[in-house]
Amino acid sequence: MKVKSSFFCSNCGTESPKWIGKCPSCGEWNTYHEEILEKKTTQEEKSDAWRSSKKEKSAPKKLEDVSSLTASRIDTHDGELNRVLGGGLVMGSIILVGGQPGIGKSTLLLQLALKQQSKILYVSGEESEEQIKMRANRIGHKNPECYIYTDVNVTQILKEANKLQPDIIIIDSVQTLMSPFIDSTPGSISQVRECTGELQRYAKETNIPVFVIGHITKEGGIAGPKLLEHIVDVVLQFEGDQHYAYRILRTLKNRFGSTDEIGIYAMDMFGLREISNPSELLISPDDDKLSGSAVAASVEGLRPLLLETQALVSPAIYGTPQRSATGFDLRRLSMLLAVLEKRCGLAFGQNDVFLNIAGGIKVTDPSIDLAVVAALISSLQDIHINKKICFAGEVGLSGEIRPVSRAEQRIQEAGRLGFDTIYISKYKSELLPKKNFGVEVKMLSRIDDLLREIFA
Ligand code: TYD
Ligand code: MG
Repeated sequence: MKVKSSFFCSNCGTESPKWIGKCPSCGEWNTYHEEILEKKTTQEEKSDAWRSSKKEKSAPKKLEDVSSLTASRIDTHDGELNRVLGGGLVMGSIILVGGQPGIGKSTLLLQLALKQQSKILYVSGEESEEQIKMRANRIGHKNPECYIYTDVNVTQILKEANKLQPDIIIIDSVQTLMSPFIDSTPGSISQVRECTGELQRYAKETNIPVFVIGHITKEGGIAGPKLLEHIVDVVLQFEGDQHYAYRILRTLKNRFGSTDEIGIYAMDMFGLREISNPSELLISPDDDKLSGSAVAASVEGLRPLLLETQALVSPAIYGTPQRSATGFDLRRLSMLLAVLEKRCGLAFGQNDVFLNIAGGIKVTDPSIDLAVVAALISSLQDIHINKKICFAGEVGLSGEIRPVSRAEQRIQEAGRLGFDTIYISKYKSELLPKKNFGVEVKMLSRIDDLLREIFA
């Protein structure tokens, strides 16, 4: 018999009968790989494989007759996770937790299993029972109803789940799963797609929520979660720099809530700790009065986050001056330097410039521009900026300071953390509430104003 095979795009999962160089669906180059497909059974038999007694097939129903989804959500006993899920775990939902290896996905979900006081099935194809036990001991919480199962066969896993009837199922990870009905290796596109589909059908039929861990590489690589995003209900991404303790859990997709929420954790000796007041930890005390540091009042997701931006500007001794940025877009840094050169006559051209956002947090909010600019000038001129001052503003190409979203929330957070002054844009300031948050609000329209106000 001829072996049946097909080609799949490893980025988006599009199928093609022959190899092609450029994916017509996502536009990526050289992503097509051959995979062997051999279906021994029909789709119908397959989706029933985990079930011993066959259930009647359901017929089309009137929308009116469909029982409305019980809005009750399961409390995960984890404030940050509840927040990103939109207020708790929805019954029968399937949640993909993505992230780079070693970021803490297994820890997060094992911790969830142990904090719960109901029956949990934790399936691991990556670690042995003993390894999981060791991790559980570090985390410290105890749940007598937490079951560990190490298998990779999806049909077998679902059979066990059916016997056990757990309240939550956790799968670590989707790349290790394999369906006996498909011939390609675990982690390949067709396996990942098939297994996730199987889990999704199971979740929908039994109403048991399923968490699925998925690895991504630096390039977004293997069996890209892009392909899974369509199948699952919620996509959470766990990010952060491995060398720092802070981890951010971001919602990329949520069928039951907003995607603006983020959860913040710190990894320590005893697993992941929830951080409900991140700003307090991200700002260092103002003891040494050093130059080159400014506090930005930024907003990540819906949460105000006060961050310290640090700059080091020093004369370049060897050849071409260097520019380097951690946690901030390098092109944006070059743009801000050009604006400072052109509009304020500050010469950075012969200097090395290093920029760092404290805590290893990657910021996408453009409102931290103003703090970055302040830190750069502070380092160049070696003038210390009082740590009771913070900044929120986007800097435009002509040196104008543009207004930012959620200004009120930023001012409020600055007041709550005991700041004296916050600098914001003059534009649209009439929209701001006249409320007093215990912090003085100063308005700037151009970078020249900043120079005059702070560095005069
Ligand atoms: P892990 O959950 O295994 O990551 P992933 O499943 O995403 O690959 O966790 C990885 C790191 O977390 C590991 O390098 C060790 C660290 N860690 C701690 O620092 N403290 C702890 O209590 C635990 C359990 C892990
Ligand atoms: Mg893991």
